[in-house]
Amino acid sequence: MYNLILLHHRQSTNSLHQNLSFILNKPFDVKFEQKPKPTLSSPHDVLVAVNYTGICGSDVHYWVEGRIGDFIVENPMVLGHESSGTVTQVGDAVKSVKVGDRVALEPGTPCRRCTPCLSGHYNLCDDMRFAATPPYDGTLTGFWSSPEDFCYKLPDHVTLQEGALVEPLAVAVHIVKQAEIKPGQTVVVMGAGPVGLLCCAVAKAYGASKIVSVDIQASRLEFAAKYAATHTFTPERVAATENAARLLKETGLVGGADAVIDASGAEPSIQTSIHVVRRGGIYVQGGMGKPDINFPIMALCTKEITCKGSFRYGSGDYKLAVEFVASGKVDVKALITGTVKFEDAEQAFKDVKEGKGIKVLIAGPNEK
Ligand SMILES: NC(=O)c1ccc[n+]([C@@H]2O[C@H](COP(=O)([O-])OP(=O)(O)OC[C@H]3O[C@@H](n4cnc5c(N)ncnc54)[C@H](O)[C@@H]3O)[C@@H](O)[C@H]2O)c1
Ligand SMILES: [Zn+2]
Ligand SMILES: [Zn+2]
Repeated sequence: MYNLILLHHRQSTNSLHQNLSFILNKPFDVKFEQKPKPTLSSPHDVLVAVNYTGICGSDVHYWVEGRIGDFIVENPMVLGHESSGTVTQVGDAVKSVKVGDRVALEPGTPCRRCTPCLSGHYNLCDDMRFAATPPYDGTLTGFWSSPEDFCYKLPDHVTLQEGALVEPLAVAVHIVKQAEIKPGQTVVVMGAGPVGLLCCAVAKAYGASKIVSVDIQASRLEFAAKYAATHTFTPERVAATENAARLLKETGLVGGADAVIDASGAEPSIQTSIHVVRRGGIYVQGGMGKPDINFPIMALCTKEITCKGSFRYGSGDYKLAVEFVASGKVDVKALITGTVKFEDAEQAFKDVKEGKGIKVLIAGPNEK
């Protein structure tokens, strides 16, 4: 069955009538299948042929566990949400893009009517339809139908591979906006995976003067030092207060950092963060790990720390992410460690699970 589908795929890769998709049935059980090609459901929609898709921890989480928290894969679901593509069809009312434009896809469609949407925080929509979040299919598919305002045209000098990195970059833009980083400020970023590294790069673009990248993997810190961090720090298995004190001493952060971002989701780094942030500073939770942890609430209270969450991306974040790539202020190319063919999509999941490289892309199915 699998071989037959692949053979069929090879014969018809360029056919605009095919919609080959990479589907998760249940944990570690995937298949390739031709799904019906989507149709435009509104005159404001466009159809996009998907060229490249990045794989991140959440995709891998569904592949391994079939769920993230209360989001459970109950029916076969197309995976993927970090994609770029080429516009192949536009609705009658579409003004901002045209057929042939290369775009970064923002993969969540909000209702535009609920209180969070109307208050300008559409990432907090009560009725969000987000790619590869059950029950909604993802973007590892031939064609993706999207409202035109959730497609961001890539300038000619920005590649489609870079376009696929706009999604995690937009996550980092949102986190750094939540951290309210201003020129000359200091920031500590816990975790040097794609999200943490991009937070460092965005903080630099925002003018942060000292950027400390923290991770338990030496290879990731080596990369961070070359990429956007001014300092790196490796925590040890000691009390959070002890790690925090050594971090502040080694990096010369007298009195604490103006902002601390967690992009690891790890309980020890969240605890350390609260001891690293200065009195009156800002802490942002970007990482998603255990849903409940021990938290140093006394330090939060007595230091009057502003503690914020950060979820996906909202108004203006994708636009700024594209501008950062286009202007060269953020180098997303450096994060791409490899590209696999669409028929080898599962390999990309294995690589990410094993922590190989930083960002793995899947080409196609419409990349020739
Ligand atoms: N808030 C959002 O909207 C959003 C969006 C995407 C991803 N995320 C989350 O952001 C986090 C980072 O994503 P990623 O793709 O970079 O993941 P990743 O797994 O590649 O990176 C996490 C890094 O944290 C490091 N780490 C683990 N324990 C640590 C500790 N005790 N101290 C310091 N570092 C430690 C790991 O070595 C790894 O390098 C994940 O938790 C992910 O679920 C959140
Ligand atoms: Zn992602
Ligand atoms: Zn809404």
